[in-house]
Amino acid sequence: MQTLQKKSFKWNQFCLAALTEIKNKVTKKLNKSNGNSIINGFQIKIFNDDNKVTNSFDEEITRIKGDIPIDLDISKGSRFLFISFDQSKFSNGIHKYPAKFFPELPRWVIKRFSKEQDLVLDPFTGSGTTNVEALLLKRHSTGIDVDPFARFLTKVKVTPLDSAELIFFQKKLLKLALDYHPSKVKDKDIPKFPYMEQWFKGGITLELAYLIKSIEALDCNQEIRNFYKVCFSSIIRSVSNADDNCTRTVIRERLNKQVNPCDALKKFAEAILINVPRMIEFSNIVPKKIKVIIPNDMDARNMNLKTGTVDLAVTSPPYVNAVDYPRTHQLESYWLGLANGSLAQLKKEHIGTESVSVREYCKLHKIGIDEADAVIKLIFLQDPRRAYIAYKYLYDMKQNLIETYRVLKKGGNYIIVVGNNRIRNHLFENWKYIKSLAEIIGFKVETYFASEIIRHFIKVPREERINTDWVLVLRK
Ligand SMILES: C[S@@+](CC[C@H](N)C(=O)[O-])C[C@H]1O[C@@H](n2cnc3c(N)ncnc32)[C@H](O)[C@@H]1O
Repeated sequence: MQTLQKKSFKWNQFCLAALTEIKNKVTKKLNKSNGNSIINGFQIKIFNDDNKVTNSFDEEITRIKGDIPIDLDISKGSRFLFISFDQSKFSNGIHKYPAKFFPELPRWVIKRFSKEQDLVLDPFTGSGTTNVEALLLKRHSTGIDVDPFARFLTKVKVTPLDSAELIFFQKKLLKLALDYHPSKVKDKDIPKFPYMEQWFKGGITLELAYLIKSIEALDCNQEIRNFYKVCFSSIIRSVSNADDNCTRTVIRERLNKQVNPCDALKKFAEAILINVPRMIEFSNIVPKKIKVIIPNDMDARNMNLKTGTVDLAVTSPPYVNAVDYPRTHQLESYWLGLANGSLAQLKKEHIGTESVSVREYCKLHKIGIDEADAVIKLIFLQDPRRAYIAYKYLYDMKQNLIETYRVLKKGGNYIIVVGNNRIRNHLFENWKYIKSLAEIIGFKVETYFASEIIRHFIKVPREERINTDWVLVLRK
């Protein structure tokens, strides 16, 4: 296959045509302004300016477009439909991430519950939306995540870069993409990881190996290189044989996904043409002397942070049974050298993990919240393994609540954004159980309100689709 790829194209002409096509496409994209908006990842048309809408249960929802007013009335149980315009703005737009915050929400939380120079913590920081927003609002921040891919992405998103250098190396990489020839890739340039031949066509593997090798060889500082690695990572799923829109990295034959020669080069060129302006825009407005710390090897259940030092914590924790993060980002992690073989150990560290043993799930466990224990018992009767996964999720979230309580200053808020889901067809009301656990630990529940989600940006099975996030406002 690889030999075939090496001989069968006039690569220079092919790449030139492809890159010209991409340049036109990107210019069109950047110039486009059609009045549409992004709602939680989806383009929708706003037809009128009426701010009161109702959901399918006839409950009244207040629609808020763009930035959320700092003094918003958040009386208990109120419902909002937040329309985000900033999902792709600044460094927030450079990579997809499942269940990512829309930036307006942490921005509002940070403005409302903290002040400049305060320390903000996100114990499940994911792609670092909280850290980006805290930085832009002149708050120091710490982002904890067990996943090396999440930490890598977050570090890139909060690191301002020199515009001139970014543009210089962007041009260099575009030129290198144009000069691609399969013969420039040696076997040693291709990373080895499980089932590589199934995930990628041979020609695409060569293109990806060429791109990452070109990035590694850039004569630039590590921060610039890491930014281009994130751009590289952002195209990997789309040029693999796996379904683009599923949290699990899976190949679905029925989709008959088409990946063509030159696609990796084209998509990478497109990614850097789009992301460099975003990064420049971000770098130009980043305030000076604000610290963002993304520690390695820390866990939301056991954070090596000093007691009583954090002014505000804000997060969206994982959901039980919803996203298998190590599996979602496995191809990206392999290509970036952040993983090389089994993901088993990493999976175990994740809250919401499905890696549990028979010894653990053969008996029924209780968390001590009547409502939750009743549902766990019903699940146990059908599926003891799922029942244990649900119990373990709440147990782990309790550990996080205890730990966050410890590191918060007295009077500090912990804002948790979490939805419900279904397990074996039983409604599992995460947010209510977390609220009860928080009260047991000593938090005061100041208020809670709903943030309606129109559609999730990534496909999950219909019955598991999460429609409402609940925002819990806790206080130490
Ligand atoms: C819903 S995502 C957070 C998304 C984030 N708000 C954003 O805007 O990108 C939840 C994150 O929790 C992380 N996580 C899971 N278990 C964890 C643990 N034990 N400690 C810290 N992070 C964990 C996952 O890796 C994932 O990135």
